[in-house]
Amino acid sequence: QIQAVVLCGGSGTRLWPLSRQSLPKQFVPLIAGKSLLQATFERVAGLAPGGTVWTVANSEHRFLVRDCAEAAGTKVRSILEPVGRNTAAAMAAAALNADPEQLLLFLPADHHVPDAAHFCQTVTEGAEAAKQGAIVTFGITPSQPHTGYGYIQIQPSSEEKAKPVIRFVEKPDAATAMSYLAEGSYFWNAGIFLVKAKTLIEALEQHASDILEAVSKAVQAQHADGDFLHLDEAAFAGCRSESIDYAVLEKHANIVMVPFSGAWSDVGSWNAVADLASADANDNRVIGHGTAHQAKSTYIHAPHRPVVALGTENLLIIDTPDAVLVAAQSHAEDVKTVVADLEKAK
Ligand code: GDD
Ligand code: MG
Repeated sequence: QIQAVVLCGGSGTRLWPLSRQSLPKQFVPLIAGKSLLQATFERVAGLAPGGTVWTVANSEHRFLVRDCAEAAGTKVRSILEPVGRNTAAAMAAAALNADPEQLLLFLPADHHVPDAAHFCQTVTEGAEAAKQGAIVTFGITPSQPHTGYGYIQIQPSSEEKAKPVIRFVEKPDAATAMSYLAEGSYFWNAGIFLVKAKTLIEALEQHASDILEAVSKAVQAQHADGDFLHLDEAAFAGCRSESIDYAVLEKHANIVMVPFSGAWSDVGSWNAVADLASADANDNRVIGHGTAHQAKSTYIHAPHRPVVALGTENLLIIDTPDAVLVAAQSHAEDVKTVVADLEKAK
C-alpha cells in the first residue's frame, strides 16, 4: 500500500495576481474551473481507492484544503504547519507521523498531470525499489535548459524500470543546464518522491540532522483536533528552512529514477498556464471574457469582465478584481520579484 502525502505549502508567487498569500495557486480554480489541489486528490485516488490522503499544509489554509478534498470526494488527514519551513521539514513531519515501514508518495499540490492512470502506473513501478530502501524519484525528459528544476543524471545503459541515479543537481545555472541538455543522460526531477518513512528519516538523520531533530520535537508536542494535526509552533518555528532537494537529494547515495513519459506541467509561471489553454490561429489564448484583435501570442486571463488586447504580441494580461498584471512573456519568471517588492513596500 502506498500512502499519498500532498505538499500544499507553496505560495506560487509567480502566478500573481491570481495567486495570493491568503489564496495560493493550488487552491484557485485554474484549469477547467478546477483547483490544482482538487485535481491532485483525484489523480491519486487510483492508488488507494477510498483511502485517506495526507496533506501537509500551512495551518492558515486548513479549510481551503478541506474544501478541495470535499470537491474531490477525498478523505484527508492534514498535518498543519504553524509557519512554512520548506519541503524537508514538511516531509519529515509526515514521515515521523507514519509507520516506519509505510511507503509514502510525496507529491506537489500544484502540478498538472492529466493522465491519472498512467501516473499511478508509473508510481507503482517504483514501489519495489522503495521497499528495498531507495529514494525513488520520477524523471521528465527535458525540453529546454530550465533553471527552476532539479536535474537527475542516470546511467543511460540501465535497462531497469527504476534506474540508479548518478547525481542529482538542484536548480543549476543556465550554462550548466545547457550542458546537461547537450549531454543527454539528464532528466528533470518531477518533484514527486516515493520512499519508505524509515528511509527518509534515516536520510535526514545523515544529511540534515538538525531539521530532523527540530521536527521530531514539533511532532512529539503536536496536538490533534479532529482530522487536523497541529505541529507544535515553537519547536517547528525553530527548524531550518530548506528544500528536500538541497537538504537530502543532492547528498544521498541510494536514489533511483523512474522515467515518467506522460504530460507533466508544474504550472510554474503564466507562460506555463497559457500553454495549457487552446490557441487560435495566431497563437492567442483567451480565458473568460478576453478578446485578442490583430494580436499574436497574447494570453488574456479575464474571468470577470471584458478585457481587450489590440495589436499586441507576446503578452500576458491577467485581470483580477483588485489587481492587473501586464507582462512580456519573456519576463514571466520575474513576476515573483515584483511580488516581493510589493510586499516590502506594504
Ligand atoms: N507543506 C509544505 N510546506 N509544502 C511546501 C512548502 C512548505 O514549507 N514549501 C513548498 N511546498 C510544496 C509546494 O506547494 C509544492 O507543491 C512542493 O512543495 C514543491 O515546492 P516548490 O516550491 O514548488 O518547489 P520548486 O518547484 O521550486 O522545486 C521542486 O519541484 C520541481 C518540479 O516542479 C524541486 O523538487 C525540483 O527539483 C523540481 O524539479
Ligand atoms: Mg514548484
